[in-house]
Amino acid sequence: ISSLAVASEIAPLIKTGGLADVAAALPVALAAEGVDTTTLVPGYPVVLAALPEARPICDLGHYFGGPARLLAASCDGLDLFVLEAPHLYVREGGPYGDFHGADYPDNHLRFAALARLACMIAQGLLPDYAPDILHAHDWQAALVPAYLHYAEIGARRPPTVLTIHNLAFQGKFEKNILGDIGLPPESFSIHGVEFYGGVGFLKAGLQFADRITTVSPAYAAEIMTSEFGMGLEGLLRARAAHVVGILNGVDAKTWDPFTDARIPVHYNQASLSQRSKNKSALQQAFDLEPDAQAFLIGVVSRLSWQKGLDLLLEALPEIMRSGVQIALLGAGDKALESDFLEAARNYPGKIGVKIGYDENASHLVQAGADVFLVPSRFEPCGLTQLYALRYGAVPVVARVGGLQDTIIDANEMALEAGVATGFQFSPVTVDAMIAALRRARNVFADKARWRRLQSNGMKTDVSWREPARRYAELYRELIRQRCGV
Ligand code: ADP
Ligand code: GLC
Repeated sequence: ISSLAVASEIAPLIKTGGLADVAAALPVALAAEGVDTTTLVPGYPVVLAALPEARPICDLGHYFGGPARLLAASCDGLDLFVLEAPHLYVREGGPYGDFHGADYPDNHLRFAALARLACMIAQGLLPDYAPDILHAHDWQAALVPAYLHYAEIGARRPPTVLTIHNLAFQGKFEKNILGDIGLPPESFSIHGVEFYGGVGFLKAGLQFADRITTVSPAYAAEIMTSEFGMGLEGLLRARAAHVVGILNGVDAKTWDPFTDARIPVHYNQASLSQRSKNKSALQQAFDLEPDAQAFLIGVVSRLSWQKGLDLLLEALPEIMRSGVQIALLGAGDKALESDFLEAARNYPGKIGVKIGYDENASHLVQAGADVFLVPSRFEPCGLTQLYALRYGAVPVVARVGGLQDTIIDANEMALEAGVATGFQFSPVTVDAMIAALRRARNVFADKARWRRLQSNGMKTDVSWREPARRYAELYRELIRQRCGV
């Protein structure tokens, strides 16, 4: 089977969150299932710079307002198509907006161009490449099924899968962009791309994709409710028979404490005692007091409302009792950034904060913290708690979405049965989070029980094997249906 994936981020070339990790790891895992994936990505400057060998394979002429070409490249075992269109992607700033956090005004064009190109490739743009399946990720790629739907009669239409990584980002634009993105006027209907009076990219994808997947079973159920559906719950319920939750996995090569080149001391379950050296290194790197006995809480996160880290700020007076330390690495919301920096000033040696995006530091936090805190208000899957499992940092998580699906709460029965891997709390409130941290600290005081929690986590299968098998099965089912067998 050959699959054309479409994603706006792919690690290590361009990453703002977990989508990039998934876009990079899934193709590798799918290869073992007999699926060849090529991923179409935008030609951001950092992507082109990292791919000096990329070769032009198709001149697209004047495309969405300027000259454009399709390039082919490979990187770290990934096959890539790159849409080179300087007028769309050469910007100062991030992949979606400028350094002040404002979205680029032409994002509808930037990502419609990407989706449209995938559709053209599916329909035979390249003489020697015809994907059996199209797999679009998030709103940036969600017009793929819509373009195929509105393509001319007789056009080739491979089946489509749309994966929702985060329903909070929907790609909603004014009605008047419809002509600019080349969709016909009749598409502006409740059964088409229309969404609350505007054009909804994600909505359009949910309407037309053959299958909708999201990144955990719990999130798949949550998004059909008004609490988590963000205005799309009705449509998702209508399509429920075609919605499925498949958990993300972890890229086992990048995230293995036994071989990780980004951490000072390697360890595995058999040599867990070595881990304390990473704890010291973490304390040093985050300006924390050297204290082997401290209960060290680690956080690596985007700083946004979703991630619930304002709860941690609010809880500080209560939790910063003796022997507690926090190492936080994050970036995003400016107010949260400055509040955490202030907290670090108020608790010198007890709270260490690094603002910014730092891959090395993110591995060090996983390798050195005692617990890893994820107090998200919603979490489609969450990858950091999976990394924490692998690294023996015991996750303390809100009981939502993928966090609920991946961590086994250390209640009495689970501890007794020896299956617990972390701590969950619900509802997502300051008090419930404090209570969970207190439970964790109590178990932490009992070194044998704590060791058990850590090694249960390290034993948990968080690989891509099973998820990849399920995606491959989904592809095969769609292809069979399309062929009428
Ligand atoms: P989301 O995609 O919602 O941000 P995930 O948990 O799925 O959440 O993925 C987050 C990814 O981004 C992880 O790989 C995590 O290690 C990484 N990450 C988040 N913030 C930072 C940061 N400040 N520095 C380095 N890596 C980060
Ligand atoms: C999104 C979600 C996160 C998920 C990631 C990869 O960014 O917020 O929960 O793990 O996508 O699927």
